[in-house]
Amino acid sequence: MLHGPNLNLLGRREPGVYGRLTLAQIDADLKRTAHELGCSLVIGQYSSEGQLIDAVHEAGAAGRAIVINAGAYSHTSYALRDALAAVDVPKVEVHLTNVHAREPFRRRLVLAPAVHGGVFGFGLLSYRLALRAAAAMLDEIRD
Ligand code: DQA
Repeated sequence: MLHGPNLNLLGRREPGVYGRLTLAQIDADLKRTAHELGCSLVIGQYSSEGQLIDAVHEAGAAGRAIVINAGAYSHTSYALRDALAAVDVPKVEVHLTNVHAREPFRRRLVLAPAVHGGVFGFGLLSYRLALRAAAAMLDEIRD
């Protein structure tokens, strides 16, 4: 699970938009879901593009599925898109909010062509569903 910039501020950051859950609470919930699914989960929050790119490379080298909320880099980062395109593992994009119902710049999702699919608009449920999708794709590969 790769969290991008500003997501470490969840809970305090624009709560009217992003809700009151903190990143620690989201992570605790995801750990429970991973436990239910019987899969191991590695979680990191990275504020810079380069760190996210390195984390994508590491996940790819380890054969781990990637669930990524790249924050605003989702709308801007061709470098992160190329990193995702370069790794051959299941990849799911996730957003708390419905990015298509917000400012026009958020409608452009530059990572989307480089991932298998995405979940957006459901808050915590977006993450739970994204994790389930990633785990299901790993199961398919490993069967
Ligand atoms: C976000 C949506 C992005 O537009 C924004 O920059 C974020 C959070 C979301 O989860 O809804 O940081 O990725």
